[in-house]
Amino acid sequence: MAAASILQLLFSLHFLFVLFAYVKGGPIVVCDTRALAELGYDPIKLHFCDKSLPYQVRAKDLVGRLTLDEKIAQLGDKAEGVKRLHIPAYNWRSEALHGVSDVGFGTHFDDTIRAATSFPTVLLTAASFNETLWKAVGEAISDEARAMHNVGLSGLTFWSPNVNVATDPRWGRIQETAGEDPFLVSRYGVNYVRGLQDVKGYINVPDKNSRPLKVAACCKYYTPYDMEKWTADPTKKTDRYHFDAQVPDRDMLETYNYPFEMCVKEGDVASIMCSYNRVNGIPTCADPKLLNSTVRGLWGLNGYIVDDCDWVVATVLIPERYRNDTPADAISQAFRAGVDLDCRGNYSPHYMMDAITQGKLSEAEIDHALINLYVVLMRLGWFDGSPGDYLHLGQNDVCSKENLELAAEAARQGIVLLLNDNSLPLPLNYSTPDGSGRKPTVAVVGPHANATTAMLGNYALKTGTACRYVTPLDAIQGYANVKYAPGCLDVNCEDTSGFQEAAKATDGTDATFLFLGLDLSYEDEDSDRQNLYLPKNQIALLDAVFKEPYPSLLVIVVLSGGGVDLSDWGSKVHAILWAGYPGAEGGQAIADILFGKHDPAGRLPISWYKGDYTNKLPMTSMQLRPNPALGYPGRTYKFCTDDGIVFPFGFGMSYTTFNYTISAPKSVSIELPETQKCIHIANPTEDCPSILVANSKCTEMVKIVVTVMNIGQRNGAHVVVLFSSPPDNIGGTLPRKRVVGFQRVFIKSGESLPVEFNLNVCKSFSFISEDANELLPAGDHSIAAGNDFTGGLVFTESAVSTKISIMIHQGTSQTRRIDHL
Ligand SMILES: *[C@@H]1O[C@H](CO)[C@@H](O)[C@H](O)[C@H]1NC(C)=O
Ligand SMILES: *[C@@H]1O[C@H](CO)[C@@H](O)[C@H](O)[C@H]1NC(C)=O
Ligand SMILES: *[C@@H]1O[C@H](CO)[C@@H](O)[C@H](O)[C@H]1NC(C)=O
Ligand SMILES: *[C@@H]1O[C@H](CO)[C@@H](O)[C@H](O)[C@H]1NC(C)=O
Ligand SMILES: *[C@@H]1O[C@H](CO)[C@@H](O)[C@H](O)[C@H]1NC(C)=O
Repeated sequence: MAAASILQLLFSLHFLFVLFAYVKGGPIVVCDTRALAELGYDPIKLHFCDKSLPYQVRAKDLVGRLTLDEKIAQLGDKAEGVKRLHIPAYNWRSEALHGVSDVGFGTHFDDTIRAATSFPTVLLTAASFNETLWKAVGEAISDEARAMHNVGLSGLTFWSPNVNVATDPRWGRIQETAGEDPFLVSRYGVNYVRGLQDVKGYINVPDKNSRPLKVAACCKYYTPYDMEKWTADPTKKTDRYHFDAQVPDRDMLETYNYPFEMCVKEGDVASIMCSYNRVNGIPTCADPKLLNSTVRGLWGLNGYIVDDCDWVVATVLIPERYRNDTPADAISQAFRAGVDLDCRGNYSPHYMMDAITQGKLSEAEIDHALINLYVVLMRLGWFDGSPGDYLHLGQNDVCSKENLELAAEAARQGIVLLLNDNSLPLPLNYSTPDGSGRKPTVAVVGPHANATTAMLGNYALKTGTACRYVTPLDAIQGYANVKYAPGCLDVNCEDTSGFQEAAKATDGTDATFLFLGLDLSYEDEDSDRQNLYLPKNQIALLDAVFKEPYPSLLVIVVLSGGGVDLSDWGSKVHAILWAGYPGAEGGQAIADILFGKHDPAGRLPISWYKGDYTNKLPMTSMQLRPNPALGYPGRTYKFCTDDGIVFPFGFGMSYTTFNYTISAPKSVSIELPETQKCIHIANPTEDCPSILVANSKCTEMVKIVVTVMNIGQRNGAHVVVLFSSPPDNIGGTLPRKRVVGFQRVFIKSGESLPVEFNLNVCKSFSFISEDANELLPAGDHSIAAGNDFTGGLVFTESAVSTKISIMIHQGTSQTRRIDHL
């Protein structure tokens, strides 16, 4: 053998050894035969390590071996482990809302891995209305999570996503959500959860309790929430620890609970977290109806329920504490209600021992919780080794080129073009007299023009910096000659000394890009917005730039979570772009859109209201329907009238033009079995006015085809949002319309594409009655593609609609029975 080959062989042996050691040095596996033998066990005799047994049986065996003290030590987020059984300590709290984050103590960055890919905050990714993207982002993030776990930097249980329906525009956490529509939020949640959790080959298995998990997701914060701290009205001021959300059952079913239900039923999520606040008088984490009966009983959660961190302290220490609870009361109520894991924070585990010795909680009840927890850890491979093909993931899979590109792509797909008088996209090449052409020259102005950490939003990186930042300024420099004059460097713009220079920078340029907006000092966890306007000195900056000689072309780019009222500026600027908090690659995405490398197709996942909207509506009122007596406008596109809105939910423009035709069956007949009753509603014209969805087979489907034609000059993606509206003669305040489907498609200039929606008649045309029953009414329902909105700053929008008549028959009309519920 030649020396070179021997060297080669030695080298590959060394490589193999390194690889082996790396795998060996990777995550600890509980059922490691050698480690157990060293502890004096015959691993074959430990049932909890017997792979031939179901996880439930194994978990039960394990719990049966623990002392009460040992059990209690496992029920907090920092589970202590059981050394004598080779069970390591485990930190349950990792976070991955829009990238692996070190906000929770379960994840750390160090010299091996300094940062993880920072995707846009959820609201912007949701604005893409692209289910494939949401799942792809979840998959990329779980790759990074597994990689970090392999090198010992993170756990496997991620307390993400947030699937709250955001119904108040001031809420500081809107950026974390997928917006105001329950259908949209639930589709986001399901796809993201599946992206995080699914192991290829095990997407659907008969026994869901044995389904392996890539990482475990958690849908939070169950359930109505929507406020951090509200002080505007001194008589009603409150915060999330004290807030008692009054929410009728109807709204729970129709809106707030819906995404959680879908997370469990369609996402098969491994965990639910209950929120701090109360709902209808009862703390969510102590409500057996919300937790045990609904999440476990009705929906069938396969996994664990965790309370929000420091929940016990939060509920016990508040002045008007719930039923004068002691910590032992609170902890026992939570576990009795269905909580399996206590994110303890400052709360001490001996309260749980108190609860048990005082007979408030039984050991059997905590055994039950432990089994739920251990089954999830078993599904994650924590006992037997990683499922799937994840052990090869390591350092190089975090901040990988592909993931950075996906982060930029998510921002590009989400960014919403709100206004454009055809000034955008900016040409890449301006003609010159000598015919050689030239690059554009642009002024780049505003506090976010060179944004870095501000692009990340919240639940990002606590320590260190992102993999890298591509700021708007960096990326625009790739397309144009830039005059950079920020005017001011932070969102408050208190230092106005740079305004004049900013105004001057616009002279003689082809365009001015003004980067305005908010940051975490205006909207965050624990901090709601005071109003819907831009910080006032940013308006002053706008004024300074917008004066003679006027900039030849003025474009505003807004970085924010919630909407801002720009209605005063609609007639002055040429274009407005909303870029959310676009993540660390966000600058690239913005520049790609400004210069037309990518056509914008994002759509607002929340309504953007006029500034005075919030004066009329206390944050403490969760009511969705308008209340004329109190002067409350309705919440969200379903209930707010158009004149309160500047840009509606679902709105977003393109650089090209699309038009629609819609086709749908004229009518659908539903034949009821003899035994099923018709239900009375205020709709006397129909023979059988409505049926109860819960009692119906609900097999009828309708196919709606929206043919989308790209009649503009450019290729582009387009989002079709489909709404349904109930017949207009049904009593009560029903949603004006609601989303029943959406699809994002790509269509070349001059081409058209039929976009099909197959809708279940019961699910898409039902309404929730005042007494919280889901009913399908007979009569003429409308189905519309696109927004029919007029007003605010919306100048063009294509929409088409048609009617579908739903007819319900029961045998012969003589046999029909109509019940009042
Ligand atoms: C929890 O739900 C199960 C069935 O879903 C029921 O048997 C049990 O009594 C419930 N426990 C509590 C405390 O509500
Ligand atoms: C700009 O356009 C001119 C004229 O069409 C062309 O000669 C030149 O190569 C173009 N420049 C660039 C950078 O594309
Ligand atoms: C833009 O921000 C980066 C990162 O903070 C900084 O290094 C760079 O100097 C800034 N650019 C300008 C032109 O100020
Ligand atoms: C859509 O555009 C095509 C081509 O311009 C036109 O013929 C058609 O009438 C338009 N349809 C609608 C519904 O506007
Ligand atoms: C949806 O997202 C996926 C993943 O990024 C992408 O490949 C696809 O092109 C997107 N669809 C449209 C129509 O933009």
